[in-house]
Amino acid sequence: MPRSRIISTGRYLPERIVTNEEMATLVPTSDEWIRERSGIRQRHFIHKEMGASDMAYEATKVALDRAGLQPEDIDFIVFATLSPDYNFPGSGVLLQHLLGMPQVGALDVRNQCSGFIYALSVGDQFIRSGMYKRVLVVGSEVHSTGLEYNEHGRQVTVLFGDGAGVVILEATEEEERGILSTHLHSDGKYALELCLINPGSRKIPRYYDGIWEDGTLYPHMNGREVFKHAVTKFPAAIKEALDANGLTPDQIDMLIPHQANLRITEAVAQRMKLPPEKVFSNIQRYGNTTAASIPIALDEALEQDKIHDNDLVVLAAFGSGFTWASAAIRW
Ligand code: UT7
Repeated sequence: MPRSRIISTGRYLPERIVTNEEMATLVPTSDEWIRERSGIRQRHFIHKEMGASDMAYEATKVALDRAGLQPEDIDFIVFATLSPDYNFPGSGVLLQHLLGMPQVGALDVRNQCSGFIYALSVGDQFIRSGMYKRVLVVGSEVHSTGLEYNEHGRQVTVLFGDGAGVVILEATEEEERGILSTHLHSDGKYALELCLINPGSRKIPRYYDGIWEDGTLYPHMNGREVFKHAVTKFPAAIKEALDANGLTPDQIDMLIPHQANLRITEAVAQRMKLPPEKVFSNIQRYGNTTAASIPIALDEALEQDKIHDNDLVVLAAFGSGFTWASAAIRW
């Protein structure tokens, strides 16, 4: 059975940088509050009208170029986002069209912060089954246009940023390398702890009187509840990835966690007894980019020469759903 390997990566961050100081002019907050609670110093926001598909397009061009591939070399797209360009159709088909690709299949994945690992797992299964040879896996988010810029929304608004990251998966017959395993979990009991409710299809009528006033057009997060679950579910997901492959934490060369909060990442590193140089963090510069955070971080870690052939790379995520997931990769 073939395995899949990540043969190329790319990222795109819109050019507008919003520092914490600028954020403090948009909502009642301060640089000190944001840095102490989350580690974030700045984030990128789109500087002109653009969707998750447009940013993914830019990141994909980089990944294709690095791999020496053309859009027609890709057999399938898996696109993870919670902020698609439109309610429907999904952003995957828009990316397919932007790239001028042949009419390949495109699947949108709606698993928020865990979305990229879910998408990676889907791509990996298609390759393992022999159905496709190369799959483009995308995480891309435009948060800035949907945040609540006032005191009510500030807890969420200060955390999120825009950006896109992609990887190209390719089939390999090499037995020792590639994606070793993925593990995916959810617990919908906590769905409303981190959610964006409207416009939702269950309301009659969908656009009811008061929809603008009741706050449901903006993301809602019970920060403390999310935090509490995150610090236990991240280590559990990482342990599951290691156990499945007969590996131990000290064998991890690079942990790339979803960039939710520097305090969460530090707590996870401490629990796993991992030194800081083995845990990648860039939330300071980008904020939480949800499904895009892991592929952006992976792309930067490679660029900074922090991942080498045969390294054990572990990806882990936790977020809205609740969903959580991990992947073990022999680079
Ligand atoms: O990607 C996965 C999704 N998200 C996460 O993983 C986030 C998990 N949760 C967290 O990271 C943290 O809970 C937060 C960073 C969101 C919040 O930190 P916290 O220490 O839990 O703060 P809090 O929500 O309990 O708020 C503390 C105080 C409150 O004031 P009072 O009631 O103590 O007077 C808030 O009103 O801070 C206030 N506050 C703010 N102040 C300045 C809340 N947001 C802000 C803000 N600026 N942006």
